[in-house]
Amino acid sequence: MDTLTNKIKISIQGVTKVFPSKRADVMALKNLSLDVMDGEFVVIVGASGCGKTTLLNLVAGFDSASQGQILLDGQPVIGITPECGMIFQQYALFPWKTVQDNVEFGLKMKRIPKAERQEQAARFIDMVGLKGFEKSFPHHLSGGMKQRVSIARSLANDPKVILLDEPFAALDAMTRQVLQEQLVRIYEKHQKTIIFITHSIDEALLLSTRIVVMTARPGRILQEIVNDLPHPRNADVQLSDRYMELKRMIWVSVQAEVMKSIEEETV
Ligand SMILES: Nc1ncnc2c1ncn2[C@@H]1O[C@H](COP(=O)(O)OP(=O)(O)OP(=O)(O)O)[C@@H](O)[C@H]1O
Ligand SMILES: [Mg+2]
Repeated sequence: MDTLTNKIKISIQGVTKVFPSKRADVMALKNLSLDVMDGEFVVIVGASGCGKTTLLNLVAGFDSASQGQILLDGQPVIGITPECGMIFQQYALFPWKTVQDNVEFGLKMKRIPKAERQEQAARFIDMVGLKGFEKSFPHHLSGGMKQRVSIARSLANDPKVILLDEPFAALDAMTRQVLQEQLVRIYEKHQKTIIFITHSIDEALLLSTRIVVMTARPGRILQEIVNDLPHPRNADVQLSDRYMELKRMIWVSVQAEVMKSIEEETV
């Protein structure tokens, strides 16, 4: 894809994360390394509990690694930065703020003057197709609309990196498809670097430039697959031999790790 450069945007270097506990410490990640290039759309798949959210939280600076380090543009991540926007499965909006105020929130924190932030917020609300809902409160919106507000709020801050943790998992299939298409358009137009977690191999194949499969816990990288499917990834592409080949390959890897994690739980 022409948005790709050969500059490393995020460098995850030998990261181990242990959650201490009175009973038994949990090692969520073990010596995990991964480089994400500027402009890449990396999708991470792996068994439940393998450490995907843990990894994203470390990249976002919400938590710190027990060992190893993460570099963003060559600088160690030591806390939350406006360079990184995070979008969660559960929309994480302020329920007492309108759509407009939710989207403006980050801009207000950055002390952007009122007129300018109103204009910017309006642009992103429009971009995610929510024009006319500026004054609505989150509880009046559907799940898909709330997730579009989170996307608009994140984009309004103009992060260079967007981290998405199963953002569409709670949505119905049709809404998910619309938002996937919107995300691809935003990615192509705004040249962001994206790390996206999903349990859906089809979603991974639709969106990514590269797919990373994680091992069962403690999470490491099991396999990396460059997604060479042509764009647009429409029904014809989804019925192609290459699509089936990639899907089967990823399915076999993920499935083996899911079995390992189930066996471990039942021991
Ligand atoms: N704050 C925490 N304290 C203790 N243990 C934790 C904490 N966060 C995560 N864990 C443990 O770390 C492991 C990895 O969890 P994580 O949420 O990263 O998995 P995941 O791959 O995102 O799973 P899922 O696909 O179900 O979302 C799990 O065993 C989990 O119980
Ligand atoms: Mg998770």
